[in-house]
Amino acid sequence: MDRHLMTFGHGSRTCIGKNISIMKMGKLVPQIIRKFEIEWASDKPEWHVETFWFAKQHGVICRLRSRDLF
Ligand code: HEM
Repeated sequence: MDRHLMTFGHGSRTCIGKNISIMKMGKLVPQIIRKFEIEWASDKPEWHVETFWFAKQHGVICRLRSRDLF
């Protein structure tokens, strides 16, 4: 499946930040989940995604509580 990943483009003009971004996502996302309790805090039931060139998310309203306080 990795051969078909187009998130960072492909070929000679592929994203030069690809490897650092994958490394950061692999470290940052687990750390956020590890350190914080995340709770949906919007009055709407879902967020909204618009995908044209980029996939833009709107209305991702969350409350984060430090797990250190529990
Ligand atoms: C999640 C993060 C990122 C995504 C999804 C992303 C995505 C992309 C995409 C789709 C392209 C166009 C590739 C193509 O035309 O085939 C691109 C190009 C590029 N990206 Fe990223 N990128 C990310 C992070 C970064 C970071 C952190 C850097 C710099 C440290 C970076 C630097 C660049 C540069 C300089 C280009 C132009 C390359 C060229 O035209 O030769 N990107 N990126």
